[in-house]
Amino acid sequence: MRDATSTRARIRETTPPKPRRPRQILIDLSRPEHRRNLLLGIVLLLLLGVGLLLSGIQVYEYTESAEFCGGACHPMEPQYTRYRWSAHANVDCSKCHIGPGASFFIKSKIDGLKQVYAVLTNSYSRPIKSPVHNLRPARETCEECHNPATFRDNVIKIIRHYDNDEQNTPIQSSLILKMGGYQETTGISQGIHWHITNPVYYIATDEQRQAIVWIGVEQEDGSLVEYYARDLVTMAQTSFVEEAWAQGRVRKMDCIDCHNRTGHPIPPPEEMVDRAISDGLIPGDIPYIRAKAVELLKASYNRTAEAYAAIDGLLDFYRVHYPQIYASRRSDIQGALAYIKKIYSQTTFPELGLNYRTNPDNERHTPFPGCFRCHDGKHIRVDEQGNGGEAISVKCNLCHTVPIVGRGEERILGVPVLTGPIPENHSDFRWTIEHRSIDAAERTQCLDCHGQAFCNNGICHNVSHPPDMLFTHAEEYRKRGDQVCYTCHQNVLCSRCHPGGIVENP
Ligand code: HEC
Ligand code: HEC
Ligand code: HEC
Ligand code: HEC
Ligand code: HEC
Ligand code: HEC
Ligand code: HEC
Ligand code: HEC
Repeated sequence: MRDATSTRARIRETTPPKPRRPRQILIDLSRPEHRRNLLLGIVLLLLLGVGLLLSGIQVYEYTESAEFCGGACHPMEPQYTRYRWSAHANVDCSKCHIGPGASFFIKSKIDGLKQVYAVLTNSYSRPIKSPVHNLRPARETCEECHNPATFRDNVIKIIRHYDNDEQNTPIQSSLILKMGGYQETTGISQGIHWHITNPVYYIATDEQRQAIVWIGVEQEDGSLVEYYARDLVTMAQTSFVEEAWAQGRVRKMDCIDCHNRTGHPIPPPEEMVDRAISDGLIPGDIPYIRAKAVELLKASYNRTAEAYAAIDGLLDFYRVHYPQIYASRRSDIQGALAYIKKIYSQTTFPELGLNYRTNPDNERHTPFPGCFRCHDGKHIRVDEQGNGGEAISVKCNLCHTVPIVGRGEERILGVPVLTGPIPENHSDFRWTIEHRSIDAAERTQCLDCHGQAFCNNGICHNVSHPPDMLFTHAEEYRKRGDQVCYTCHQNVLCSRCHPGGIVENP
C-alpha cells in the first residue's frame, strides 16, 4: 500500500505538467464570418463603454445634486430642508459649495469621502456648525451668477410683526435699504455693498466669527486704515495683527460674511410666526397666540416628540383661561397648533442639535449682531501713532432710513418717500428726538423733502421721550413694550448701559 502511494507520488513528481497551450486565436479578415464576429465584438465593447460612461456621469451628477447632498445624507437633512425654502432652491448645493473647475471638485470629493466616513462611524459633529472653513472664495461661486456691479437700487422693505400682547397687535415697519454697490461707469462704490469693492480684512477671536477685534480697510495706495475693538485699542502697539497674518487668521470679507445663510436660512421663531399670522396660517385673533407660539418654539427639547407634546399642551391654556374661545374655536386652535408643529419640524432639528441659534445669520443685526459685529460704535479707528479716532458708524440711517413704524390701527401704508440732500442739522443722531422743537415755519419746509407718511410715524410720535428719559425709561419701556423702544435703539444702544441687552431678540 505504502509503495503504491509513493510510486504514484513519484510519478507525479517526475512527470512535469503539460503546458496548457492557449488555443490560438486566428483572425482572418478574408473570411466573412470572422469579419462579422469582429464587428459584433467591437460594437458590443463600444456599447459597454458608453453604458459605463453614462452611468458614471449619472453617479457623478447624482453625487453633485441637492438630493444626494441633502436627502441621502442624514446629517445634512436640516440644510436640505431649509434649502428647499430658500431663494436658491433651484441652485444645486455644489454650485456654492464646490463651484466650477477640477481642483475644487477633487478636493470636495476627498472631503466628501471623509464625510461619508464620519457618517458611517457616527462621528460627525451635531450640529454641523458654520462657518465652513476653507470654503471656496465667493468670487468663484456666488459671482458666477451675481454681478456685484448690478446691486445699486435701493430696496423698500415693509416688515410685518405682531406684538406679544393679548390682541397680537400688528406692527409694521417700513424702511429703505441703501443697497449701493459698485458703479462701473463712475467707479463710485457706496452703501451696503461697499464692502465688496473695498477690500476689508478682519480678525475674529471665536470659531463662529462673531467677536471681531480688528478691521483693516485697504486704501488705493495699498495701506490699511485700521480699527480696533474699544477694549483692545491698547493692543495697537503690539504685534498681534502681524501674528494673526502670519498664522493665517486674517479673513478677507466677501459675500459670505453677510450672506452666510442664504443657501439654507433658518429664520428665528418670531419671524416664522409673524409670517404665518400674516399669511393667515395661524389665526391672528386667538388671544396671545403670537407670544405663546414663539415661547413654545424657543424652548429646548431633546426630541421632536417632546416638542409636539408641549405644543399640544397649549390647548389646556385656552381651556383654562379662555373657555369660551376654547369651546367656539377649537378647530382653529388645533389648526394653529398643527402649523406651529410644522414650523418646529422645519426649523429645529433636536436629534442633530441644529436650530436657528446654532448657526448665526450675519445678514442683519437681529437676532444676531451681524452688521453690529463691526458697526457698533465700539470699533475705533487707530492711526499709526496709536491715537484713537472715529468709530465704524452705527448711525441708524447709514444702511437704511429710520424705520417708519405703526402699531395696530395707526399702521401706515405709505413708504418713507424722501427727496433732496441731507441737511446739516440731521447729521447728529439726537436730531431724531430733537426735531420736535421746531416751529411751524420750519415745519412747512420739512415737507419739501419729506412725504407726509414719513412724519406720521406713530412709534416716534406717540412715545413719551422726555429730555430726562434716563429717569423714566424703565417705566415707559414697560408701558410700550420692547418693539417700540427697539425701533430706534436696537440692543446696540441699550447695551451701552445694560451689557447683554434687555431682550434676546428685539
Ligand atoms: C446659495 C449658496 C448655497 C447653496 C445652494 C447651498 N449652500 Fe450650504 N452653505 C453655503 C454657505 C455660504 C455656507 C457657509 C456658511 C458659513 O461659512 O458661515 C454653507 C454651509 C453649509 C453647511 C455647514 C453647516 C451650516 O449650516 O452652515 C452645510 C452642512 C451645508 N452648507 C450643506 C448644504 C446642502 C446639503 C446644500 C444643498 C441641499 C447646500 N448646503 C446648499 C451656501 C450654500
Ligand atoms: C447658480 C446661480 C447662483 C449661485 C451660484 C448663487 N446664486 Fe444667489 N441667487 C440666484 C438666483 C437665480 C436668485 C434669485 C432668486 C429669486 O429671486 O427668487 C438668487 C438670489 C440671491 C439673493 C437674494 C435672495 C435672498 O436669499 O435673500 C442673495 C442674497 C443671493 N442670491 C446671494 C448669493 C450668495 C451669497 C451666493 C454664494 C454663496 C449665491 N447667491 C450663489 C442664483 C445664484
Ligand atoms: C456687508 C454685508 C454684505 C456683503 C459683503 C454682501 N452683501 Fe449682498 N446684501 C447685503 C444686505 C444687507 C442685503 C439686503 C438684504 C435684504 O434684502 O434683507 C443684500 C442684498 C443682496 C442681494 C439682493 C439684492 C436685491 O436687489 O434684492 C443679492 C443678490 C446680494 N446681496 C448678493 C451679494 C453677493 C453676490 C455678494 C458678494 C459679491 C454680496 N451680496 C455681498 C449685505 C451684504
Ligand atoms: C468686518 C466688519 C464689518 C461688518 C461685519 C460690516 N461692515 Fe459695513 N463697514 C465696515 C467698515 C470698516 C466700513 C467703513 C468705515 C465706516 O464707514 O465707518 C463700513 C462701511 C459701511 C457702509 C458705508 C459705506 C459707504 O457708503 O461709504 C455701509 C452702508 C455698511 N458698512 C453696511 C453694512 C451692513 C448692512 C452690514 C451687515 C449686513 C455691514 N456693513 C457689516 C465694516 C463692516
Ligand atoms: C451697518 C448697517 C446698519 C446699521 C448701522 C443699522 N441697521 Fe437696522 N438694519 C440693517 C439691515 C441690513 C436690516 C435688515 C433689513 C431687512 O429686514 O431686510 C435692518 C433692519 C432694521 C429694522 C427692521 C427689523 C425688523 O425686523 O423689523 C429696524 C427696526 C432697524 N434696522 C433699526 C435700526 C436702528 C434703530 C439702528 C441704529 C441703532 C440701525 N437699525 C442701524 C442694517 C443696519
Ligand atoms: C433738503 C431736504 C430735507 C429737508 C428740508 C428736511 N429733511 Fe429730514 N431728511 C432728509 C433726508 C434725505 C433724510 C434721510 C436721511 C437718511 O435716511 O439717509 C431725512 C431724515 C429725517 C429724519 C429721520 C432721520 C433722523 O436722523 O432722525 C427726521 C426725523 C427728519 N428728517 C426730520 C426732518 C424735519 C423735522 C425737517 C424740517 C425741519 C426736515 N427733516 C427737513 C431730507 C430733508
Ligand atoms: C423715535 C426714536 C426713539 C424711540 C422710539 C425711543 N428712543 Fe430713546 N432715544 C432716542 C434718541 C435719538 C436718544 C438720544 C440718544 C443720545 O443722546 O445719544 C434717545 C435716548 C434715550 C435714553 C438716554 C440714553 C442716554 O445716553 O442718556 C434712554 C434711556 C432711552 N432713549 C430709552 C428709550 C426707551 C426705554 C424707549 C421705549 C419706550 C425709547 N427710548 C424709545 C430715540 C428714541
Ligand atoms: C445711559 C444708560 C442707560 C441706557 C442707554 C439705557 N438704560 Fe435702562 N437703565 C439704566 C439705569 C441706570 C437703570 C436703573 C437701574 C435700576 O434702577 O436698577 C435702568 C433700568 C432699566 C429697566 C428696568 C430694569 C429692571 O430690572 O427693572 C429697563 C426695563 C430698562 N432700563 C430698559 C432699557 C432699554 C430698553 C434701553 C434701550 C432703549 C435702555 N434701558 C437704555 C440706564 C440706561
